[in-house]
Amino acid sequence: MKAHVLLSPHNVDELYFTGKNTVVIDVLRATTVINTALINGAKEIIPVNTIEFAMKVSGNAFGGQTILAGERNTKKIDGFTLGNSPLDFTKENVEGKSIILFTTNGSKAIVKAKFSENLFLCSFNNLDAVAEHLVKMNEDFEILCAGSNGMFCIEDTVCAGKLVRKIQKLKNEIVLTDAAKASLELNKSFGKNVEELLKDCEHGQKLIANGFEEDIRYCAQIDTLNSFGVYESGSIKLHKNK
Ligand code: MLT
Repeated sequence: MKAHVLLSPHNVDELYFTGKNTVVIDVLRATTVINTALINGAKEIIPVNTIEFAMKVSGNAFGGQTILAGERNTKKIDGFTLGNSPLDFTKENVEGKSIILFTTNGSKAIVKAKFSENLFLCSFNNLDAVAEHLVKMNEDFEILCAGSNGMFCIEDTVCAGKLVRKIQKLKNEIVLTDAAKASLELNKSFGKNVEELLKDCEHGQKLIANGFEEDIRYCAQIDTLNSFGVYESGSIKLHKNK
């Protein structure tokens, strides 16, 4: 079992993921939002990589069970029902709904990895659930950090390091690439107080400036969710333990 970490989506194209097991991480806030929405009963999340495509998909959907969600520059997009704040993806707002989601980095990273054989979504809130599943699969995997506008961001890499550490503890013969080793070291240095890390990082600062400090506290919680999203044929559904 070998673990590799892609520190940003920038250096790989869509075909890189063909046949791979991939875990996408966008702690602030897309994968936290998706995992939360699914646990709160959303039927599915449809990630899209442009706002235009979000409008097109919603135009083809029928009935009141489909909603548009997402952000531009952290704020809700005009005409969309929800933004990208995990606190808005409550049972009341999402139960039974198909949610079309556009975000600056997270939904794009998921769409980029769509040719993966298996594609899972991880955030600080569900590390245990993802780690246990990967150990059960016992296959090589890639962790794709969504980053920020194609660049490295520390919070996704620390989350990747925590995931690798949990897997190491469950199974000690895991092989690590250099980037996976680096994520472990970053977790050691910056992962002790996740809330502080999220408040201090560049995107966290932007969220605070735009009034989303509550979201940071939510995104910093460790292992409060007991499952994870799985992407298949264009939509993300909640993994059901068999
Ligand atoms: C993203 O996908 O870039 C983020 O989720 C942005 C945000 O915090 O809304």
